Amino acid sequence: GVNKKALHLEIYKKAARFYYYSLQLKENEQALEYFHKRGITSDVIKHFGLGYAPAKYNILYQNMKREGYEDEDLLETGLFLKSKKNGMLFDRFSDRVMFPIFNLNKKVIAFGGRILGEGQPKYLNSPESLLFDKSRTLYGLHIARNEKHPYYILVEGYMDVIAMHVAGFTQTVASLGTAFTDGHAKLLKRYTQQVVILYDNDGAGKKAALRAIPILRSNGINVKVLQLTDAKDPDEFLKKHGADEMKKLLDEAESHIWFRIKEIESTYHLELPDEKVKFLQEVAKLIGSLESSIEQSIYSEEISQKYQINQDALQAEVKKYYQSEA
Ligand code: GTP
Ligand code: MN
Ligand code: MN
Ligand code: MN
Ligand code: MN
Repeated sequence: GVNKKALHLEIYKKAARFYYYSLQLKENEQALEYFHKRGITSDVIKHFGLGYAPAKYNILYQNMKREGYEDEDLLETGLFLKSKKNGMLFDRFSDRVMFPIFNLNKKVIAFGGRILGEGQPKYLNSPESLLFDKSRTLYGLHIARNEKHPYYILVEGYMDVIAMHVAGFTQTVASLGTAFTDGHAKLLKRYTQQVVILYDNDGAGKKAALRAIPILRSNGINVKVLQLTDAKDPDEFLKKHGADEMKKLLDEAESHIWFRIKEIESTYHLELPDEKVKFLQEVAKLIGSLESSIEQSIYSEEISQKYQINQDALQAEVKKYYQSEA
């Protein structure tokens, strides 16, 4: 009910304050050092409310008990786990730098916690709860939505969102390891007509982009894709090349169609006629899936030029597949 939600919000707010405060303590300087090494200044820490969960078994729990909260309520927030041995609660997050996740009203509803070095899991997220619905939450949206933006940028991780915002791209959001869902797309549609997908430069990032495209498209959002080359993710790219380079690439981001065509192309040997036929059939199917016949015609022309294929032949093939958006 409403009261329970209010109670959980209060507990999350106190937890966020506790983690933020812990990050400033001398005894936890290795955590602050970790952020500083990654280029996260004290201003950025404040802006995103970053913190540190101390390497102590139940320090947050003890704090909450002192504040008078009941075990049952604390457990329900997801911030604590129950020991199988003695039934006592202990902190879910321990010895991790903490990223509070905010709802649209800028209230903390969950956390992501990163291990300071190597180790598994690298990131630990709050479980879903009364407050936190993963498939309807985008990290960074509570800031992005403050201004109007011609397009939004979709990245993979916390550090990518933070680095992008620091570089001035405050329209950047992330779905946080969770697959991009229809709920995410519907949420974005409230704020923008266009999204640039800027996922990690690896197989997983590519696959995730291919999955996100039709979800965004089916919600009426224009999609472009920017694939980084000499950096593994946006955070790393910005460290290497800076914001101006990033802006240039964003301005040149390609249509989702070309991204998908290149993906299809990578699975064929175009120098073999048989394979080229199959490739073009698959491309025709993709073009046929576009709702707008104007789009179909524009891409058909570009494709026929690029791959040296008669445009009428391609169009005929496209028509075969022209049905509904894929
Ligand atoms: P850094 O190494 O800190 O730069 O993180 P990253 O964001 O570059 O990590 P990565 O590309 O590996 O993962 C992208 C996002 O997926 C992260 O920001 C997390 O939100 C999520 N993620 C990564 N590893 C894990 C994990 O072990 N568990 C969970 N639940 N999520 C993860
Ligand atoms: Mn990755
Ligand atoms: Mn370069
Ligand atoms: Mn990274
Ligand atoms: Mn990454």
